[in-house]
Amino acid sequence: APLKITKILCIGAGYVGGPTCAVIALKCPHITVTIVDLNQARIDAWNSPDFNLPIYEPGLEDVVRQCRGRNLFFSTDVDKGIREAELIFVSVNTPTKKSGVGAGFAADLNYVELATRQIAAVATTSKIVVEKSTVPCRTAESMRTILEANSKPNCRFDILSNPEFLAEGTAIADLFQPDRVLIGSLQTREGKDACAALANVYSNWVPENKILTVGLWSSELSKLAANAMLAQRISSVNALSAICEATGANIDEVAHAVGYDSRVGPKFLKASVGFGGSCFQKDILNLVYLSESLHLPEVAAYWRQVVEMNEYQKRRFSKRVVDTLFNTITGKHIAVLGFAFKADTGDTRESASITLIRDFLSERAFVNIYDPKVIESQIWLDLSEACPNMSLESIKKQVKICNSAVEAALNTEAIVIATEWKEFKAVAWTEVYEHMKKPAFVFDGRLLVDADELTKIGFKVYPSFFFF
Ligand code: NAD
Ligand code: UGA
Repeated sequence: APLKITKILCIGAGYVGGPTCAVIALKCPHITVTIVDLNQARIDAWNSPDFNLPIYEPGLEDVVRQCRGRNLFFSTDVDKGIREAELIFVSVNTPTKKSGVGAGFAADLNYVELATRQIAAVATTSKIVVEKSTVPCRTAESMRTILEANSKPNCRFDILSNPEFLAEGTAIADLFQPDRVLIGSLQTREGKDACAALANVYSNWVPENKILTVGLWSSELSKLAANAMLAQRISSVNALSAICEATGANIDEVAHAVGYDSRVGPKFLKASVGFGGSCFQKDILNLVYLSESLHLPEVAAYWRQVVEMNEYQKRRFSKRVVDTLFNTITGKHIAVLGFAFKADTGDTRESASITLIRDFLSERAFVNIYDPKVIESQIWLDLSEACPNMSLESIKKQVKICNSAVEAALNTEAIVIATEWKEFKAVAWTEVYEHMKKPAFVFDGRLLVDADELTKIGFKVYPSFFFF
């Protein structure tokens, strides 16, 4: 019979482990949930008395306030956590490999492996080990081999795959009401029991018909497939946006008309300056690598194009800015509104904004940045990484970080909207216009503002001013 879980450990207190397990603690007061991380500063932030949490996510603070110290704990004592838990989520990072075999494509599974080895070394009782991180298909097999080769007598490990589908910025809402919870297990009796034990945790708040149980490999691949198909929609709509700009069609109108087909559906069809975030690119590259390893070059090329289209979209946007500003931005001032990869998060990983600013800096423009949530030190870190041939000192000579959109726009010749923060819609545009150099350009990388209204004020708004 399935075990009734009362003690859960989560290894990795990041964007996934933190919110996911905080919500489990909230919804399951009878379960003690401990979240551990090697990063002391991160754990200190989770434990901070004034709830100055390490990640910004709407609704998260409220959840942590309700549970922390009750049945939710944050710690750096990984070993103790492992010893006490019945079920362990492995929610560590799986970035793209930077060197070695598969560099630039394959997922770096070093963190997953280290966590797995630590579980094997420390556990003295049986555990259910759950892959929460996004991993290549068949990683569970490697985890099982490592665990079994290192386990103590009377210790058995059951491996589950339980990929996470939350999106940043809406993580808490997504976790409260997930479209589905996916659990993959071996189709043995023990595997199915472990699966039922985890399903019972979720069934405290997720309707049974939304808890899907499948084989391990299907579960692992479904996660990569879901991200690939979501990103593919964006690249498709972005590819169409290039045709729109060349013809005078309006991509919002086209997307709306296409999305009305119930087979296509209206969501996730917003043209943009390109998708960012820690996962889409990484997971598609991972799928490309998998396809190549399986000797499926046509499949690999198909998915690779989704990422290439995204790179093209970012390049095309930077070029549009330079071309429009009379073919040179050297010495000009540009305001970039938004540094996060999407609205309602402070996360900047793979943000399109970084690529644009890098391009502007390489043209020797001056850039004023404003983002409501990204902290200053993160911006310097990201720009240093993006511009390896510039010293931080020289970056700081060209970049100013501002406290409002209005401040960022002061004396600039152009505004670039890089993130879809709602507040950018409500900017005092008339006031901004008065304080800018003329002609004053707005490049709306998110189709966020009302182009007609801004045009009436006097702005030249892209994408639309060069339509016939
Ligand atoms: P993250 O970098 O924010 O968090 C991972 C944490 O794991 C880090 O704090 C790191 O210090 C810690 N860690 C690494 N190795 C450890 C070890 N051996 N012991 C203890 N702690 C360790 O990453 P994230 O954004 O939370 O992503 C985690 C995984 O979830 C990735 O595989 C990602 O693909 C997947 N995922 C992410 C999202 C998202 O929106 N960010 C959504 C779904 C799935
Ligand atoms: C994405 C998926 O939506 C989640 O289901 C998944 O769990 C997660 O990746 C993951 O595996 O990490 P996330 O990257 O947090 O979530 O955010 P999204 O809302 O998917 O946005 C990704 C990027 O696409 C952002 O830069 C966003 O601005 C952009 N986007 C999104 C568009 O350009 N157009 C759209 O229509 C939608």
